[in-house]
Amino acid sequence: MSEILKINNLWGGYKAHVDILHGVSMKVQHGEALGIIGLNGSGKSTLGKAIMNMIPFRKGEISFGSNDVSSLTTSQLSHCGISIMQQGGKVFQTLSVWDNLKLALSKQPNVLETLRSIIPMLQVPKKELQRMMADTLSGGEKHQLSLAMTLATNPHLVILDEPSAGLSPKAVEDMYQLLHAIRNVLGITIILIEQNIARAIDFCDRCMLMSQGLLTFEKIDKFEVLEEIMFNK
Ligand SMILES: Nc1ncnc2c1ncn2[C@@H]1O[C@H](COP(=O)(O)OP(=O)(O)OP(=O)(O)O)[C@@H](O)[C@H]1O
Ligand SMILES: [Mg+2]
Repeated sequence: MSEILKINNLWGGYKAHVDILHGVSMKVQHGEALGIIGLNGSGKSTLGKAIMNMIPFRKGEISFGSNDVSSLTTSQLSHCGISIMQQGGKVFQTLSVWDNLKLALSKQPNVLETLRSIIPMLQVPKKELQRMMADTLSGGEKHQLSLAMTLATNPHLVILDEPSAGLSPKAVEDMYQLLHAIRNVLGITIILIEQNIARAIDFCDRCMLMSQGLLTFEKIDKFEVLEEIMFNK
């Protein structure tokens, strides 16, 4: 397998002179699902935002495929094929589901059909999607719409920041079915930021532990070992 993403020694944060990321290095292989787990405030979301250049990083390199993408804007990265679902499932609240989708859709044909074939909340007539306002959606539906918008650019790699957080057990199941489809049907590489360690270990090929702005452990595959590391059990 070849690398789709390579990050070397990434430093940065939200304010000058206050680093949140302290030299993050990681590699992601084509087609794999890589989990990133860690305590609240450890820097997981910050890493996702830094990869997408939504916050600046002051040192380090990021390559995507064989290209150095360290200086690309978020929009350019999206054109290259990297997309992020931000924590909390962000959507445009005052727009309809259909208008949210239209804003995110790439020019490629069939993307919408593909999304509607795998995302349950989109499997209603177009008129219904035009009528449904985003601010009336349930938490689970909002996460599905946010995920649909993440996929609408036809990405090769998606960063999913806690896609099942705060959802009911049934909605969590639905979300993980969707994640399996993204991986197995669409063949998209996934970086999954997840609080639920057991879920992450079950879904991902391997997991890394984020601790104080550093990815400290790799190839974690035993729940017990991880509990020991994170909670000093
Ligand atoms: N917009 C911001 N401005 C300034 N500091 C921020 C901002 N967002 C996050 N931080 C800080 O960056 C650090 C890492 O936050 P981050 O959101 O990356 O953690 P996380 O691992 O994603 O946590 P969680 O599991 O709670 O989502 C925290 O100390 C946080 O206070
Ligand atoms: Mg976070």
